[in-house]
Amino acid sequence: MNNIVWQQHQVDRKQREAHKQQQAVVLWFTGLSGAGKSTVAGALEQALLERGAHTYLLDGDNVRHGLCADLGFSEADRSENLRRVGAVAGLMVDAGLIVLSAFISPLKSQRDAIRKALPDGKFIEVYVATSLEECEKRDVKGLYQKARLGEIKNFTGISDPYEAPEQPDIRLDTALLSLEQSVQQLLLLLEQRGIIRPQS
Ligand code: ADX
Repeated sequence: MNNIVWQQHQVDRKQREAHKQQQAVVLWFTGLSGAGKSTVAGALEQALLERGAHTYLLDGDNVRHGLCADLGFSEADRSENLRRVGAVAGLMVDAGLIVLSAFISPLKSQRDAIRKALPDGKFIEVYVATSLEECEKRDVKGLYQKARLGEIKNFTGISDPYEAPEQPDIRLDTALLSLEQSVQQLLLLLEQRGIIRPQS
């Protein structure tokens, strides 16, 4: 980054947040493939939209069709995937949005790097703690079966590690909670943190 100077523009995040009447934040959903990250994030986004919030949902499977189409699932590629997505989420926070990010993000170091790059307090870690057993039983995309047969290498939970968050801001097990309950718990957390206003 030699010879590149940060430009301070007239309109800043706080003004964009005030304009949208909300606090910008990243809700970072982490968990195994098939844990329910995208499903819960999607339902939460719908609920937030109904409350008038301004949101964007960043989803691993979708981002890997475009921005990260050149990346695979080695540790280095996953870290680069998450670095890029973390940077995009950071721009969206600067734009004043509530960002919902659904990525396996298997390593603590990867998640910590994203937290560190964001302004203080703007990273909320949502651990979708559905067990490997349950995810494998669901096998919505048929990927666990392929991973067990050795047809997919480096598959998280089978032949690649997943480091569970030790102190997530919230922990949701979609085998125990209904979708509605997960969404309600997240809305409550956002209200408690002053990110959205309680419904009157
Ligand atoms: S991450 O590890 O870099 O955070 P990301 O969330 O983008 O992963 O992508 C995960 C999705 O890619 C899974 O939901 C699954 O559909 C698909 N996938 C394909 N290969 C793998 C693999 N080896 N490990 C995990 N997920 C995989």
